[in-house]
Amino acid sequence: MASTQGTSDWITERTSMSLETGAADRHPWEGGRRYHTYREGRYSLPNDEIEQQREELMHILVMDILEQQLFLAPMAEPPKKVMDLATGIGLWAIEMGDRFPDADILGLDLSPIQPTSVPPNVTFQVDDVEDTWAWRVQVHDNDYDFIHMREASAYMRSTPTVIESVIAHLKPGGWLELQEFHWLAEKEDGTIDPSIPVNRYMDHMMSAAETSEGRKIPILPEMGDIMKQAGFVDVRKKTYRVPYGTWPTDPVARRRGAVLSVNAELLLPTSDKVLGYIGVTPEQAEALYTDCIKMFHDSSIHCFATYYVWYGRKPEEPAENPGADR
Ligand SMILES: C[S@@+](CC[C@H](N)C(=O)[O-])C[C@H]1O[C@@H](n2cnc3c(N)ncnc32)[C@H](O)[C@@H]1O
Repeated sequence: MASTQGTSDWITERTSMSLETGAADRHPWEGGRRYHTYREGRYSLPNDEIEQQREELMHILVMDILEQQLFLAPMAEPPKKVMDLATGIGLWAIEMGDRFPDADILGLDLSPIQPTSVPPNVTFQVDDVEDTWAWRVQVHDNDYDFIHMREASAYMRSTPTVIESVIAHLKPGGWLELQEFHWLAEKEDGTIDPSIPVNRYMDHMMSAAETSEGRKIPILPEMGDIMKQAGFVDVRKKTYRVPYGTWPTDPVARRRGAVLSVNAELLLPTSDKVLGYIGVTPEQAEALYTDCIKMFHDSSIHCFATYYVWYGRKPEEPAENPGADR
């Protein structure tokens, strides 16, 4: 099994990225940030070093929240063929390859930002996971045991369509797992105060996604229904509350809150472009980010983000009854 030390080793290895200097030069830059070239404009966040560091931090936070489990799907056997959709810098795929040396792990992403030095059973490919999967040589068969997607459904034009592709390419009995943060800040009693800076930011982001691309975010709270409609059974949801800021007295919650806030601080400035779609000026966006950051440092504001995990199984037989989520 890989240890946290193992993860750090791979992170260090990331100095040798598949995106080489020449290729990096060809990537579009805007506002001092670098973006992906393949299917340019498809994904709104940058793919530069700052964003890659944010992804590393997010991976470490998520592994902390899930107590070093890479997935929660209750697979009876270790998976042999695994796909990681929108793999990013590929840390999840690399750790899976490390923990399951007999499995083949394929990571797909719009950006070639994964390390070149990886376990021999891990492969990365530049691809748009919203394309029709049928034409892909590598993934045309429906014999995957496990397909995983983390922190990406909010960026898909149509997550239900991606999930239909997933079920078509899983073998009967294979599992899908989706994980993602829902950034809307909940108070300790579960209510949502729309005047809290993070919620004002989220409100703008939701309108911008809807206005510019007809996308609905967040989509994770509804994922169970989408998975069941696609034909998954044994669909289950798990949620974890993660504090914004370091107000909790419990050291574990405090640590997670600190990392989440640093992560959010790195994420906020990447939103200028998206907020611009609904007429928010860079100055207004900057003021909103400043309010959010103040909120993370204000220990009198007790709020949580929610981390969602959904998993479900492709039925063995088409007639198998869909399971209920809980
Ligand atoms: C926030 S990052 C998450 C990366 C990784 N899954 C993780 O959890 O660390 C989102 C990733 O989704 C990728 N992405 C977004 N839309 C995509 C698409 N249509 N096809 C492939 N990758 C996509 C982006 O390039 C980016 O690397």
